Amino acid sequence: MRQALATMPKCELHLHIEGTLEPDLAFALAKRNGVALPWTSLDEMKAQYEFEDLQSFLDLYYALMRTLKTKDDFKDLMVAYLTRANADGVKHAEIFFDPQVHVCTNGLDFDMMLDGLLEGMMIGRERFGITGGLILSIVRDMDIDSANMILDLAQPRKDEILGIGLDSAEVGYPPDRFVDQFARARSFGWHCVAHAGEEGPAAYIRDALDLLHAERIDHGIHIQDDHELLERVVRDGVPLTCCPLSNLRLQVVHDMRKHPIPEFLHEGLMCTVNSDDPAYFGGYVAANYAALADIGMPMEELAALAGNSIDASFASDGRKAQLH
Ligand code: HPA
Ligand code: ZN
Repeated sequence: MRQALATMPKCELHLHIEGTLEPDLAFALAKRNGVALPWTSLDEMKAQYEFEDLQSFLDLYYALMRTLKTKDDFKDLMVAYLTRANADGVKHAEIFFDPQVHVCTNGLDFDMMLDGLLEGMMIGRERFGITGGLILSIVRDMDIDSANMILDLAQPRKDEILGIGLDSAEVGYPPDRFVDQFARARSFGWHCVAHAGEEGPAAYIRDALDLLHAERIDHGIHIQDDHELLERVVRDGVPLTCCPLSNLRLQVVHDMRKHPIPEFLHEGLMCTVNSDDPAYFGGYVAANYAALADIGMPMEELAALAGNSIDASFASDGRKAQLH
């Protein structure tokens, strides 16, 4: 079964490249790049990977992001992820990155960072045949000026970026704050997706659809609280990019046996399975499928989820046909 789950062709549609920074690599990069971390040993650092909510994870995630400095750091991070993704049967990956943090908080050069990530994706394409693209994610709890500045920097390179996303602390940062940034991204010809309904309410999902014109909802777990919205999302075929291990580790769900994915699938929602921040949540994408197998989802439903990931991607129709 594990082998079948890892070889099933699939797309990964909800993956933060910074969330693939494994603790050992972060610790090594900190040393190599002269970045001071608050922990004196790797073991002490690893003891921080117990999360009580989204914010407690984000605090560590942003702290370790400071260890990424050079173009090769970004390239190597991408190649390391794509190597693991390839082993898990990923054929196409649409990958978030958080440039506001790298550029506005950590002082890196936007083009250097983007060049490293794109070079890594090129290597993944040549080495493994993995297609895909980058989704520039707006960090919703940072200053809106920093989001605008990043869009200014991205504009000359808009054709090298697939879309815009919205991530980080959700509650208190509703979609209506980001209408202008998403409108601008649409003018670039970018796809639009948004994290909504992870810790935030179902209303944020509705607003992401109505105000931001999101084509997919990242997480979307709280759609279970609004049946009318759920029916609309089923009717319109809007995909949800669900991340079971993330939900468990961030206590969005308290017991994997209560994860709503099986019910969502039965209700007709176009759910997909993804790993979100696999270096933090205990497994890459095949492990997320395996977690669902462990709660009793049958192989045919797991295969349907993999099929959904292909249909929900922004790959061309020709590429989708190849992957099915
Ligand atoms: N939610 C919100 N922001 C994030 C996440 C997430 O799961 N991962 C990285 N940034
Ligand atoms: Zn996410």
